[in-house]
Amino acid sequence: MERVYVLVLVFTCLVNIHPVAQAIGINYGVNGDNLPAPTNVISVLKQRNVAKFRLFEPNEDVLTALHDSGISVIVGTSNQDLETLATDYAIAVSWVDSYVLPHYSSVNITCIAAGNEVFPGDLAQYIPGAMKNLAAALSASNIAIPVSTAVSMQVLSVSYPPSQGLFSADATPVMTEITEFLQSKNSPLLLNAYTYFPRVGDPSHVQLEYALLQDSADTVHDDPYTYDNLFDAMVDAVYSAVEKVGGPDVEIIVTETGWPTDGGDDASIENAQTYVNNLIEHVTRGQGTPKRPGKDIDTYIFALFNEDLKPEGVERNWGLYYPNMTEVYNANF
Ligand SMILES: *[C@@H]1O[C@H](CO)[C@@H](O)[C@H](O)[C@H]1NC(C)=O
Ligand SMILES: *[C@@H]1O[C@H](CO)[C@@H](O)[C@H](O)[C@H]1NC(C)=O
Repeated sequence: MERVYVLVLVFTCLVNIHPVAQAIGINYGVNGDNLPAPTNVISVLKQRNVAKFRLFEPNEDVLTALHDSGISVIVGTSNQDLETLATDYAIAVSWVDSYVLPHYSSVNITCIAAGNEVFPGDLAQYIPGAMKNLAAALSASNIAIPVSTAVSMQVLSVSYPPSQGLFSADATPVMTEITEFLQSKNSPLLLNAYTYFPRVGDPSHVQLEYALLQDSADTVHDDPYTYDNLFDAMVDAVYSAVEKVGGPDVEIIVTETGWPTDGGDDASIENAQTYVNNLIEHVTRGQGTPKRPGKDIDTYIFALFNEDLKPEGVERNWGLYYPNMTEVYNANF
């Protein structure tokens, strides 16, 4: 009996430790003309225990540099490819042949994202078809990688209080189709959720401390739950919306969140560092959100670098690193 008890304790510890190291990822954006070579980037971040990246498009240099690194990656399709991926199965097969097959045995590709923040827009109608064709093409090659899409909070018409979360009338038909697909395949929905934007959009109602996950924040009651930060409230609003269109078991992965260091209201190194470090602690604590308690929230910070080819203002200032690989601020991975 005693031996069994010790074993149980050991396994409990392992189970608790493992996800902590796995929960945090980084968005590897490449819209800069001064960024370091992927091999240098990856060796530095590996030393810092970064276990996961997300790529917006299948960048060959980055994927090749990730070979045998032990770092896993979510790979996106470009939005312009959605229409042909949806309407021509052969294009989906060639996408898989070009971007997945050469890397699949050496890199842990954890998800394929059919498009990024396509809502609202004309291309959104192609997401379900692109997801289905990519999933079929992967399956035909005996590759078990989930297929999803990344959405922003703009898919919702109601996000407050979180229990009332609802897809907009425009988004509902396509989000229903997407949700049913994800539910049937046991695949996650990818969500880009920035507390920064509601805060600067409505500073008199959205407290800075609440957006920064500070202990001093006021709480929001939404029976039976209490929210002490805006990040959980945003994620749970999307869970509520997904539940209403047939996705009770669909898990959310937060593929983007972060805080800018310059270029706009409340954008500062101090606020960005506070947000990112509070967030890392929060999502790796195994506590989940009020609606989905008891596990880490799989989360990717935006972004690895300040990217100088993006529009001026906050857009260029989300990086954890300057292009010369000096940290903008220290994040506790
Ligand atoms: C791939 O990554 C996932 C998610 O991080 C992890 O659960 C799985 O064990 C990894 N597989 C391999 C072969 O490394
Ligand atoms: C890296 O770039 C930043 C921003 O341009 C600059 O402030 C810093 O001094 C640079 N660091 C090194 C080591 O060159």
